[in-house]
Amino acid sequence: MHITELSVADYRNYNHQTVRFGDKINFVVGRNAQGKTNLIEAVYLCSVGKSARTPRDKELVNYEKQRARVKVSVKKSYGDDKVEIVLDKDRGKQITINGMPISRMGELMGVVSTVFFSPDEMRIVKEAPADRRRFMDIALCQMSKTYFYLLTRYNKILAQRNRLLKSGHVTDDALDVWDIQLVDVGSKIIKTRRGFVASLSEAAGSCHAYLTGGEETLVLSYEGIEGDTVEDVQTAFSKRLKSERDKDRLRGYTHSGAHKDDICFTIAGKDIRAFGSQGQQRTASLALKLAEVELVGSRGEYPILLLDDVLSELDLTRQKRLMAKIKDHQTIITCTHIDPQLLDGLTDYNRIFVENAIISME
Ligand SMILES: Nc1ncnc2c1ncn2[C@@H]1O[C@H](COP(=O)(O)OP(=O)(O)OP(=O)(O)O)[C@@H](O)[C@H]1O
Ligand SMILES: [Mg+2]
Repeated sequence: MHITELSVADYRNYNHQTVRFGDKINFVVGRNAQGKTNLIEAVYLCSVGKSARTPRDKELVNYEKQRARVKVSVKKSYGDDKVEIVLDKDRGKQITINGMPISRMGELMGVVSTVFFSPDEMRIVKEAPADRRRFMDIALCQMSKTYFYLLTRYNKILAQRNRLLKSGHVTDDALDVWDIQLVDVGSKIIKTRRGFVASLSEAAGSCHAYLTGGEETLVLSYEGIEGDTVEDVQTAFSKRLKSERDKDRLRGYTHSGAHKDDICFTIAGKDIRAFGSQGQQRTASLALKLAEVELVGSRGEYPILLLDDVLSELDLTRQKRLMAKIKDHQTIITCTHIDPQLLDGLTDYNRIFVENAIISME
């Protein structure tokens, strides 16, 4: 899929602006603090329903205005879609898809499918496991509404179980009831994530080999409750909850489950989460995102790749390899300047200029 048009009104530093994108590489160029990331953020908002930078929707509304509006039109192999989001400082957020208001966030998942990458995301390999889980969840939610609903349900059950544990007076029978639900939903999530990471490993390995010129081999593996089938995971998860019940009661917290999963990244047998160089960790993060694009694309529509300010983090050779890898699908890439050598050999690209929240095309 690709975005044909984005309109913003009173969003961040923008007044009213509309931008048309090409279906291949789009460079969004401008000096610092002009509104480049704000544009990418607006696209991401229409994809995931929230910003990647802040959990507080109010911050997205222009300081001096009451309400912001963002509209995205996407073209797909079969048909087009329009997503519109209105953010009101008092009334909150309203999302419409093709003019119809939605009542559940799950309805938005996959309508505008994106993969987002920024310098912050480059730390995904070395940061906390929660960041890697967030990566899996955002990817999987866009691929499957069922996954989104499972995850929402899991988080509710987990919160409830933790509340009971913290209350200090919960019977074994009451906990049993919550455990059955946690195991049922959690095992489906774990099984899905395990399959996802296995497919991703292959794609990430080949993207990584391409970016590094074949110098190193990247392997991903899933770390979580064991089991190849949902039933196997259920058995292991159930056993784990039982054996850790005393510990859970003592600390008022559930020690095992899908909320503890992680992805391990290894190069030449070494866990690069802990032992990788900064360059290795960055390149592995980028390979991971490119692999996500490939994987999602191979199963249906290619997602839109959003690259915020990542060129400055890569040397020219890697920048060129990155361009070669992404040139066939839509990418929106922000930067303060483009090395002319990077454009050598690139035929199909757009340049969009942003200055003080005013957009102009080449
Ligand atoms: N709610 C808001 N209302 C008005 N202006 C805002 C709001 N939120 C952020 N801004 C302003 O938007 C401007 C542009 O931000 P943005 O992050 O898009 O810059 P950028 O072009 O990506 O810059 P850089 O190259 O430094 O990353 C900033 O000056 C910021 O102060
Ligand atoms: Mg920026």
